[in-house]
Amino acid sequence: MPELSVAVFATDNDQRAVLQVLVDGTNVARTVTTSATLPLAANDPVIRKTQAFAPDVILLDIATDGITTALRAIELLHQELPDCAVFAVGPMTQPQLIVSAMRAGVREYIERPPTTTDLLEAFVRLTSTRRKPGREGSRGKVFTIVNAKGGSGATTVAVNLALALQSIHHDTALVDLASLGHCALHLNLKPAFTVSDAITNLHRLDSSLLKSFMVPHEHGLQVLAGAATHAANEPSVSDFARLFDTMVGLFRYIVVDASSRLDSATRLVSNLSEKTLLIAHADVASLWSAGRVAQYLGETGSRDRFALVLNRYRKVAGFNEAETEAAIGAPVLWRIPNQYFAVSSAIDRGVPLMQQSNTEIARSIAGLAEHLTKDDLDVKRAAWSLFKTV
Ligand SMILES: Nc1ncnc2c1ncn2[C@@H]1O[C@H](COP(=O)(O)OP(=O)(O)O)[C@@H](O)[C@H]1O
Ligand SMILES: [Mg+2]
Repeated sequence: MPELSVAVFATDNDQRAVLQVLVDGTNVARTVTTSATLPLAANDPVIRKTQAFAPDVILLDIATDGITTALRAIELLHQELPDCAVFAVGPMTQPQLIVSAMRAGVREYIERPPTTTDLLEAFVRLTSTRRKPGREGSRGKVFTIVNAKGGSGATTVAVNLALALQSIHHDTALVDLASLGHCALHLNLKPAFTVSDAITNLHRLDSSLLKSFMVPHEHGLQVLAGAATHAANEPSVSDFARLFDTMVGLFRYIVVDASSRLDSATRLVSNLSEKTLLIAHADVASLWSAGRVAQYLGETGSRDRFALVLNRYRKVAGFNEAETEAAIGAPVLWRIPNQYFAVSSAIDRGVPLMQQSNTEIARSIAGLAEHLTKDDLDVKRAAWSLFKTV
């Protein structure tokens, strides 16, 4: 199975064993070599030995009694293996150490003791920054839709955005990650399978099996439906990483309806998204919640991907957009008009807005789809993968 290869450096035997178990536990990376000694000079044999494995990542433990040696080793490894990303594991209580490690060439500084999730998120960040066009063939882009609070319109936006992308670009999927999925209802579909089935069959999941779990909508949009009951066994974050790795190999655009689901799965999917749209109303409570949601989802990784979409928008006296953007740390990307009758009857009838005669709200969502993909029209699809292809 293709995955990231990792070289583990730790002078302490227990720590080395623990790091190896954690790396292998992410399921997206595998330890290919471990070392109890840190290099002291460029011609140190341990450097040559590591180069022979050509690892994607070096995970190096900074022992409290060996900080200087560890920093020197990071510098040497960074210099001698320039294509390899160095991740350091160390205490968070010494800001100066973190700064020095970063200066020495560390790409990620992970708090000790790390968890599998910490490592997984760091691996995901690494692969998603490799998302440069043309690097690894064609991989799809993910847009995650979350609401500031329930009822803000995440599902409405996700369903109609996916339909708009499908009609402009084809090759689009809608994935319902909400804790209680409503997408199929909005689209009047009766799915035989859900996200849970795809996750349960991950060990044999390839494009054709994944497609067989999806249900097509009449204009070709492929839908991976959400759970209708609460899952007994919550899938792990690495299960979601695998599912989305298969998804981006299969579709050009993937819209994810996370609605109010705020957990490590949403955080992971948001982390690997091109954009995470926070659906909020232009009132104080909704915007306050949007800020909290962005804070939670943006705890790790870059926050540039967040954008606010103001739904049921109307001009409110005294509402200051610039102040809102500053407080939330995300720009207002789009405003969707308030059309209660059109929206609620679309949901009740299972005939989405995009399929009805020209409403202002359908035009607005089509505009959002165009805006989100305006740079993609003549650019090759962005490329990234959690796993290298063998
Ligand atoms: N632009 C809009 N104008 C009027 N009503 C809307 C709009 N968007 C959503 N709604 C209404 O808000 C309700 C909640 O929308 P939904 O998409 O289910 O939100 P969420 O997924 O965030 O919980 C829906 O019943 C719908 O009728
Ligand atoms: Mg919803």
